[in-house]
Amino acid sequence: NKPTITVIGSLNMDLVTVAARFPNQGETILGEQFLTTPGGKGANQAVAAARLGADVRMIGAVGDDAFGQELIRSLQNEGISVDYVKPVTHGSTGIASITISERDNRIIVVPGANHALTPEDLDSCESVIAESDVCLLQLEIPLPVVERAVSLAHRHGVRVIVNPAPAQPLPPSVLEQASFLTPNEHERTILFDKMDEGAFADKLIVTEGAKGVRIWQDGQERLIPSFQVPVVDTTGAGDTFNGALAVALAEGKPLDEACRFANAAAALSVTKLGAQAGMPRRQEVESFLSRQKESH
Ligand code: RIB
Ligand code: NA
Repeated sequence: NKPTITVIGSLNMDLVTVAARFPNQGETILGEQFLTTPGGKGANQAVAAARLGADVRMIGAVGDDAFGQELIRSLQNEGISVDYVKPVTHGSTGIASITISERDNRIIVVPGANHALTPEDLDSCESVIAESDVCLLQLEIPLPVVERAVSLAHRHGVRVIVNPAPAQPLPPSVLEQASFLTPNEHERTILFDKMDEGAFADKLIVTEGAKGVRIWQDGQERLIPSFQVPVVDTTGAGDTFNGALAVALAEGKPLDEACRFANAAAALSVTKLGAQAGMPRRQEVESFLSRQKESH
C-alpha cells in the first residue's frame, strides 16, 4: 500500500553553471558547464518521495511560459499529480540561478509565480490535505500559505513536516502545529533566534550535512551519521532527505530508522549533477543500505 504524500511548495527551473572557482566581485571568468534542469524545493521533495514509492500530489504555481510547461511535464513523468499546480497568467515561472564550484553552491532564487500562491488556494485543496498520510512544506512560497497549509493539516490530524528553508523565522503557530521541523544548522539558529528551542526538541530533526542528522528521542540527543560518498553536487540533498523522510515516516518507520533511510537517499543524490538527477529509486536505497550493513 503506497503512502499518500502532499507537497506544498515551489517549482523552479534551475539554471546551473559549473566553474573552477567562484568569481570575485566585478570579475568575469569562464565557466565549464551549463544546464537548465527542474528544481525548486517543493518539486524536488515531490520527486524524491515519488521515486521512493509514494503517491505524490503537488500543490504550487507556475507561470504561463515555457519553463512552467517543462516543470509540469517533468513532474508528470515522475507520476506526480499536478492537478493542484496553478498556472499564473502573465506570471513567470520561478528560477534559481545556481553556481557550483569548490564542492559547494551559491544560489539566487527569483520566486515569480511561486509567490502567487494564496491561502485561499490552499483552502480549495482542503480535502487533498485531509486525505494525505503526510504533508511536506518548505519556505519558497509565501508564509501565509505555509501557515494555512499547516493549520489545515493540523485540523485534520495529518502529520506535517516543515522544512524551514531558505532560512526564515516562523510564527509560533507553525512551530506548534508542525509534527516535524527539519532545519540545517544555519536555519536552526534563525528559527530559534527569539523562540525557546527546548519546547520543540521532540519534533526537531537537524540536518548537519556530511556529519549526519541530530534528533532528540525521549530527551536524549542522538546523531544519526551520514554516509560518505564522492560529492558532485549537493544541490537538492536536503530536499532528497525531506522527501525520503516523509515516505519513511508515512510508512510507519521509527524516527531513527527513517533518518537513516533518508540519509542514504540524500547520499546517493549528491553523486550526480542537478537537484533531481541523482535522486535514487527505492531499490537503489535498499541495496545501498544493505551494502552498508555488510561493511560493518
Ligand atoms: O534546494 C535546492 C533548490 O533550491 C534548487 O533546486 C533551487 O531551485 C532552489 O530553490
Ligand atoms: Na544531485
